Amino acid sequence: GKVAVLMGGRSAEREVSLMSGNGVLAALKSKGVDAHAFDPAEREMGELRKEGFQRCFIALHGRFGEDGTVQGALELMGIPYTGPGVMASSVAMDKLMTKRIWVAEGLSTPAWRQVRSADEAVAAFKALGSPMIVKPVREGSTIGLTKVTSEAQCAAAYELAARQDPMVMCEQFIAGDEVTCPVLGTGASARALPVIRIVAPEGNYDYQNKYFTDDTKYLVPCGLPEGEEAAIQALVLKAYLTLDCRGWSRADVMIDAKTRKPWLLEINTSPGMTGHSLVPMSAKAAGLSYEDLCVRLLASAAL
Ligand code: DAL
Ligand code: MG
Repeated sequence: GKVAVLMGGRSAEREVSLMSGNGVLAALKSKGVDAHAFDPAEREMGELRKEGFQRCFIALHGRFGEDGTVQGALELMGIPYTGPGVMASSVAMDKLMTKRIWVAEGLSTPAWRQVRSADEAVAAFKALGSPMIVKPVREGSTIGLTKVTSEAQCAAAYELAARQDPMVMCEQFIAGDEVTCPVLGTGASARALPVIRIVAPEGNYDYQNKYFTDDTKYLVPCGLPEGEEAAIQALVLKAYLTLDCRGWSRADVMIDAKTRKPWLLEINTSPGMTGHSLVPMSAKAAGLSYEDLCVRLLASAAL
């Protein structure tokens, strides 16, 4: 049947989503799938049913796409879709809710504070220490994020984050290795893929170094001791199942350079599928091509 690749959308990650979606679209077509692009920012969701789409591949990132809203519309229309359902998508979009649940389940995530003003950001800096990350609660791709190392930087960092989302958070920065790990599958058959270690120029894995430069190094195999990689995979799998994720997701983790303890930062329920993106790299290391990954994800579409 007809498949819609949902891409574009209205979040700050629209451009990233178009790159992801066009990649997925080409891959599905190359495998003989009757796939078509669909941009919910330009069309009504109801057209999906009128036009006889039978499944959706969600390649939207950020709010109004990765956050349970689109998933809810598809539930109402009875059209199966890739990735986690309404509740998991909605919780994972909100980095504070995610952390509260992980902490309640005993999973490690860096200390944080929600802040509602520049003054509260300064107070958070005093409590959490330097360096500290200031970021929007419901955003992706490092948009609106600042690493601050002095009280003087806190106000501007707060304003930058608040421009993306009225909900802003501060988080203790964990100095060490930056890694990411995808999970594929649902319930008892969910499995973590190989861990990728990210080495960005000057440790700055920002929007530019994520999507547009070729200076960022992606190490897979990650080169970490075998026990460490397995521990990260186990942690990420728990993080995924705890939020009731299904289909696929990708969790971002920092490993403390001194203690070697892994700390969960967040989980992305509609991970990037661009030419620079991480899940395709990890899947490839596990013997799964980009095209086969797309077909497998589509096959996991559910309600
Ligand atoms: N938010 C981007 C798309 C990612 O996590 O891959
Ligand atoms: Mg993210």
